[in-house]
Amino acid sequence: MEKKPAKKSPGGVSRRDFIKGMGTGALGTAVLPPLLGQTIPTKKGRVPVYDKKTIALTVNGQKVGLAVEANETLLDVLRDKLDLTGAKRVCDRGECGGCTVLLDGAPVYACMYLAIRADGKAVKTVEGLAAGDKLHPVQEAFIEKDGYQCGFCTPGFLMTTSAFLEKNPAPSLDEIKQALSGNLCRCGNYAKIYGAVDAAAKKLRGA
Ligand code: FES
Ligand code: FES
Repeated sequence: MEKKPAKKSPGGVSRRDFIKGMGTGALGTAVLPPLLGQTIPTKKGRVPVYDKKTIALTVNGQKVGLAVEANETLLDVLRDKLDLTGAKRVCDRGECGGCTVLLDGAPVYACMYLAIRADGKAVKTVEGLAAGDKLHPVQEAFIEKDGYQCGFCTPGFLMTTSAFLEKNPAPSLDEIKQALSGNLCRCGNYAKIYGAVDAAAKKLRGA
């Protein structure tokens, strides 16, 4: 039977090309090139298809330009390309918060955030929290209140806490628990972590 010609969308990408282009592995790699440089329809409008793109970030106050693959996450870039290993790769699937960094001041799971989407944004990692030799009050409070045991989850907690206290300088215990609910501590050190956040809030308020 004769094959029907594929219908083209207004942007020139056929449904058949699109489905082929969304394939994964060797097949996906083989058929993706026809879509590169074009746009594909999404719920938020048409978006360009990249395999690699040069992005500009401001990381801990420093401007950085680098080429990233379309499937690289912000965590890949921070840890593997910029040697900033403070954000931890733990679950690598958006469940533990060990990779939390601030993007334009808001906490995100870097393991779930494509680096390409961070183009033009400001990233703050735990390495950028202290001002030179002077620790951030949140860091001081975690040390003073034993807010860590093995410390593997601590960078994520510090970043979430620093952003949270900017918004809510005098939180209740329930608000602290709610704000930190996206960060997990495998050592189960929650009581001391909550105490550290409360102490950090008081330090920041000068109370
Ligand atoms: S490593 Fe990103 S959420 Fe667990
Ligand atoms: S201190 Fe060990 S995982 Fe939290």
